[in-house]
Amino acid sequence: MKKEKIMKYQSQKVAKPYFIAALALFVGQIVFGLIAGLQYLHGTFLFPELPFDVTRMSHTNLLIVWLLMTFMGAAYFIVPEEAQTELYSPRLALVTFWVFLIAAALTIVAYLFVDYAHLAAITGNAILPTMGRGYLEQPLPTKIGIVLVALSLLFNVTMTLIKGRKTSINLILVGSLWGLALLFLPAFYFPHDTVKASYAWWWVVHGWVEGDWELILGALLGFILIKMTGVDREIVEKWLYIIVAMTLISGLIGIGHHYYYTGAPSYWIWLGSIFSALEPIPFILLIAFSFKMLLQRRREHPNKAAMLWALGTPIMAFLGAGLWGFMITLAPAQYYMHGTNFTAAHGHLAFFGAYAMISLAIISYAMPLLRGRTANSAAAQRWEIAGFWIMVLSMLGIALALTGAGIVTVILQRAADDPMPFMQVQDKARVFFWVREFAGVGFFIGLLVYLRSFFIAGEYEYASEMKQALAA
Ligand code: HEM
Ligand code: HEM
Ligand SMILES: [Fe+2]
Repeated sequence: MKKEKIMKYQSQKVAKPYFIAALALFVGQIVFGLIAGLQYLHGTFLFPELPFDVTRMSHTNLLIVWLLMTFMGAAYFIVPEEAQTELYSPRLALVTFWVFLIAAALTIVAYLFVDYAHLAAITGNAILPTMGRGYLEQPLPTKIGIVLVALSLLFNVTMTLIKGRKTSINLILVGSLWGLALLFLPAFYFPHDTVKASYAWWWVVHGWVEGDWELILGALLGFILIKMTGVDREIVEKWLYIIVAMTLISGLIGIGHHYYYTGAPSYWIWLGSIFSALEPIPFILLIAFSFKMLLQRRREHPNKAAMLWALGTPIMAFLGAGLWGFMITLAPAQYYMHGTNFTAAHGHLAFFGAYAMISLAIISYAMPLLRGRTANSAAAQRWEIAGFWIMVLSMLGIALALTGAGIVTVILQRAADDPMPFMQVQDKARVFFWVREFAGVGFFIGLLVYLRSFFIAGEYEYASEMKQALAA
């Protein structure tokens, strides 16, 4: 196949810098994760240069940034192809990329070198307070930058959609990108009233991961599976609409699982418990949908690694979000488990299983194409597949270790008649923090193995019939 033929629309190429930057930021995220894990074992490690709160904030903020980077790259890759037209403005997409990358890098550098309170003082937090809530720690200029970047993305993809074909994948994708931007706006509302502040915080955090982003996940997975299996669009669309509906029904009111015992009205105990208990359903549907597509496939796509990511994503997302989420979601369970390492176990497995893995899935599908190949060579795919398994198994290790630490806290502190002091409980859970750190090192090795696959040259050698089938 000629190189020029591989990409359907030249403007899709702007996705490439987004994907590369995303992977670089992913490496940064994991390095901070490893340091944070060490600080659990040696409280003074790198102190005072790098206190735990800064390490943790850099870890979680880099996570959010690299995921957003991939979602944007994915949008610039998918929207033109689905709309069957070039991107409205590739140049704007490229400018937006640099603005986002530089803003993100400056923010992390500021976290590392400027004292957080001082950073707040010099970036106008007194004028419009926004800093300090988890995941939304960014200073005001960064938050405004995020809004501008989102507006630019929305303008670009919406204009592309308007002039092109309107498929369900594109409507869900562009619609959920609008949702993502709108749901970020409560980040600018940080009143003194802690109940109201926590409402606004969860509208962003829960609204994203248990609402809007699930729609992005569905659209990306649907796109990859259509491309890889050749299954009819109509079937995919029917499933996607059911998944979207179930996500919204369960996720919107399910936000109540963050309102128990916070000072919010007590009816949330019932609403939150009942509706959030339904939240695993869309994840089960995603598994059923993906495997149905696999069974009905009309071709064997040579990119086996991408298929593995695409099938692994719904399974791991179900485990992390569906199962580990369900474990902590009912009000009587939250009563004991709130804010323990059960939450961290769930947070890691869900974020990795759903959003890191769908990101790696779209990168796995699109990057070979962006580099002028239908699929990477068998040798490169072996590295990628090894990276997949090492990362997935290590993440299960991290989640199980944190679950162990959670159990220790619940038994010795939360549910005990004679609760043990916090620090003594931490000490009892120490073995689990060691296991977490070892699994974390494993994860980092898996990431390096995965990245190695990008440096192995060559295209997949496939039979000539397949070449023709893929060109069709
Ligand atoms: C893609 C992989 C990863 C994802 C998606 C991820 C995600 C997260 C999230 C969402 C949090 C905040 C959760 C909470 O405190 O409830 C967090 C905190 C943390 N992560 Fe990760 N992480 C990943 C990898 C790692 C690795 C490899 C390590 C290293 C051992 C690590 C260590 C930590 C630590 C120590 C915290 C702070 C926990 C605390 O405050 O108690 N993470 N991570
Ligand atoms: C992919 C989807 C999901 C992701 C990425 C995710 C991630 C997270 C993270 C990072 C936290 C910790 C927030 C913090 O810093 O306090 C959290 C909390 C929580 N999640 Fe999820 N979650 C997902 C889906 C779900 C689902 C489906 C359920 C229920 C079935 C659920 C139930 C909960 C509950 C109850 C809490 C509060 C825990 C506490 O307050 O200690 N999550 N989630
Ligand atoms: Fe939630």
